[in-house]
Amino acid sequence: MAQNSPAHTIIAIDGPAAAGKGTLSRRIAEEYGFHHLDTGLTYRATAKALIDRGLPLDDEAVAEQVALDLDLTGLDREILSAHAIGEAASKVAIMPAVRRALVETQRRFAAKAPGTVLDGRDIGTVVCPDATVKLYVTATAEVRARRRHEEMVAKGQAADYATILDDVRRRDARDMGRADSPLKPADDAHLIDTSEMSIEAAFQAAKVLIEAALKTK
Ligand code: DC
Repeated sequence: MAQNSPAHTIIAIDGPAAAGKGTLSRRIAEEYGFHHLDTGLTYRATAKALIDRGLPLDDEAVAEQVALDLDLTGLDREILSAHAIGEAASKVAIMPAVRRALVETQRRFAAKAPGTVLDGRDIGTVVCPDATVKLYVTATAEVRARRRHEEMVAKGQAADYATILDDVRRRDARDMGRADSPLKPADDAHLIDTSEMSIEAAFQAAKVLIEAALKTK
């Protein structure tokens, strides 16, 4: 079914790292019975495949071939969440040929019936500009760093708040400052600032916006 067919729903969720969009996206997909794709995993899987095969992270033609061969069925969130893979992913994510290849794969996923939820950095602006509803989920860098710190402590991992905050800021600068598809809200995106919101409150706010969009579709 065509992406922008009236019967097909696409929910686009963008925002910076650690803003809570992953948890929110999974919750929304479950609520509506839609397929969900965390597009960050496609960049992470491309980076990991390069590392695993001993290939360079700065050769665009090589990275493009790996991105073209990516199989969405094998994405493992737990394995791909490693910090080093995130760092490598943000390097391949600045390459236009890699982005073109992954955006094609993401668009094919977006067309799945009965509907889809995609989260990332450029879903509302580039991947699915005709999405049924666009949410931009954000929170201050301090709050995002605190949440990531708490998550790591809960998992028993060594974690230093100041280092994490530095990291969040550097990742933001890289995501927002790149020439191709920088992170920014689409003109028609609804902003959800989760700095002072629980995940449940964010979900309720998102649901109100989604219900309104589904009614006018
Ligand atoms: O959200 P994440 O940390 O899993 O994303 C990993 C990297 O991929 C990050 O540097 C941003 C980039 N990314 C992107 O450029 N476009 C997307 N749609 C999703 C992620």
